[in-house]
Amino acid sequence: MKTYIVGNWKMNFTVGESSIYLHKLLKRLTSARGLEIVVAPSSIALPTLALQTDRHKIRLSAQNFYHRDFGAFTGEVSIAQLKGTVDYAIIGHSERRYIFNESDKDIKLKVAAALRNGITPILCIGETDNEKTFGETADVIRDQLLGGLADVSKEDIKKVIIAYEPVWAISSVKGARLAPPDDIATSVDLIRQELKALYGKEAEDVPVLYGGSVNPSNAGAYLTIPGVNGLLIGGTSLIADQFLDIIEVAKRVRS
Ligand code: PGA
Repeated sequence: MKTYIVGNWKMNFTVGESSIYLHKLLKRLTSARGLEIVVAPSSIALPTLALQTDRHKIRLSAQNFYHRDFGAFTGEVSIAQLKGTVDYAIIGHSERRYIFNESDKDIKLKVAAALRNGITPILCIGETDNEKTFGETADVIRDQLLGGLADVSKEDIKKVIIAYEPVWAISSVKGARLAPPDDIATSVDLIRQELKALYGKEAEDVPVLYGGSVNPSNAGAYLTIPGVNGLLIGGTSLIADQFLDIIEVAKRVRS
């Protein structure tokens, strides 16, 4: 299975800055067999970056979109409109869930829209600090998986990526702390069991990524957790040297 290194730029960089940054990455990236490098810029930068990128080296992802393809939805951008610019779409990121009140129903519709348009959904799930404190991690993981995948068939599950991101480990969250690899291993194991219960063997090859305060010094430890097939990186992905260092770590771990 491939190893995925995904950079989520969130609401950072102008179009010009995004383009300069991508240029820098493309210039410095050496061949990365078995690695899928993906960056998720703001949607306004996507058309420019799609013309600029070399898809053999770096693929693009949307950070968000509206679930309907076209119509009277002022201010929204659909995945149908982004088709041709992106190969992936991040869906259900905790910032969408908790700042923009996205429900599992919204998320399920977005997963279906991405699949309908031939885009790979990266479905993010993970518990908050409170939920962890109250021992609800397993329930949250189960609910968010069931909710987000509600309309995904056995055939389509092979086209989905899951990202486990405990909200309390996301660097921009107040009081964020590093997730111990053992905690992640337990959650990833639960995700795999749930996928198996829902889809059987069809789900064996679904990639599961980890995200939350990943940097070049902890990337190796996170990538070697059994069942983890890659990383979703926020803050650190904004610094070219560090993002490239994480890619180097991923190459070493794979070889
Ligand atoms: P972080 O963000 O790497 O800055 O913790 C991860 C994410 O929000 O996807």
